[in-house]
Amino acid sequence: MSLSNCRIIELPKISDPRGNLSFVEGGNHIPFDIKRMYYMYDVPGGAERGAHAHKGMHQLIIAMSGSFDVILNDGHHAKRFHLARSYYGLYVCPMMWRALDNFSSGAVCAVLSSSRYDEDDYIRDYDSFLKAALA
Ligand code: TYD
Repeated sequence: MSLSNCRIIELPKISDPRGNLSFVEGGNHIPFDIKRMYYMYDVPGGAERGAHAHKGMHQLIIAMSGSFDVILNDGHHAKRFHLARSYYGLYVCPMMWRALDNFSSGAVCAVLSSSRYDEDDYIRDYDSFLKAALA
């Protein structure tokens, strides 16, 4: 799995003077079916979240409100993505070390995931990640 598989996906946006609307269909706008959504909010200034990889899970990360950065690292290269619009999602393929920081106040980070929560799918130790990623 390489960093080049990860990308910003522009989601449909229905502009409306009453308020805009965006949507995501699993298998259509994103390359996986959605089994779970979770979200982070009330993130204190200066906090860092993430700092782990997933062995098999695909995810889409959306800044539903506010902004934050996602740093992706495939073991060879790292890239920082700034998310600030609710009609953009960052597709994160499996075996990608990710960290999230630079949260604005009031930021809400939603994550659509290809599987339910499974602690066995996490790699939480960076050296173990590197060993697996570079094997
Ligand atoms: P974690 O994924 O480590 O958060 P972060 O990506 O910010 O590091 O999850 C934090 C805690 O929440 C951890 O104890 C597991 C729990 N958790 C669930 O129970 N279900 C979930 O769907 C998620 C994402 C986390």
